[in-house]
Amino acid sequence: MSPIVVAVDGPAGSGKSSVSIAAAERLGYAFLDTGAAYRALAWLGLERGVDLDDADAVVALLDDFDYRTVPGADGTIVHIGLHDVTTAIREPRVSAVVSDVARIPAVRSALNETFRRLIDATQVPGIVVEGRDITTVVAPDAAVRILLTASEEVRIARRSKDLAPAQAATAGQLRERDRRDAQVVDFMTAAPGVTTLDSTDLDFDQTVDAVVALVHERTGA
Ligand code: DC
Repeated sequence: MSPIVVAVDGPAGSGKSSVSIAAAERLGYAFLDTGAAYRALAWLGLERGVDLDDADAVVALLDDFDYRTVPGADGTIVHIGLHDVTTAIREPRVSAVVSDVARIPAVRSALNETFRRLIDATQVPGIVVEGRDITTVVAPDAAVRILLTASEEVRIARRSKDLAPAQAATAGQLRERDRRDAQVVDFMTAAPGVTTLDSTDLDFDQTVDAVVALVHERTGA
């Protein structure tokens, strides 16, 4: 049977990863962080010294992109082949270039196929999938579709708190990444049928409560 899909999109620093992980745990659902796959591919490109502006060279990386994920206590553990890249893919040097990889259409369609396969292989009743185009492209028929937003000021404050001070992304970097990503997919406005959840004035638990309540409301489960 197909799993219940909860699609969560939103900009950088909206809290969608941590909120989605917590909501999945409360619901007993699996969790899929699609941004991690884009980050892992960007990491592989940097590792191999590939010019990330060269779309063909980036697409060629997909031939041996052995991307594997395992659920961990604090989110997903990401491996490329035998390398554990869970921490490496969050480094600023990867954040700075991941948009270059994500804007290549052939990369998007290949990764979207992978995401759909992972969703179909879900062994529990449901899966929370988070990213930028889940509600619109990856799983437009999802039972629950949410655009998680927060004011730019709050997103920057949350993102700075998430990272060690030495790694803290500047406000400028966050704005720049959103600007570049938004040229590829629109994750700032909710598509028809998508519920906007503005977490500017909500704390973490209230935001998770709101997501879980919406899932109960939409699925009757
Ligand atoms: O959510 P994140 O910051 O880890 O995502 C990393 C990058 O991947 C982000 O800059 C945009 C891109 N991305 C995307 O284009 N589509 C997705 N579904 C998920 C992420």
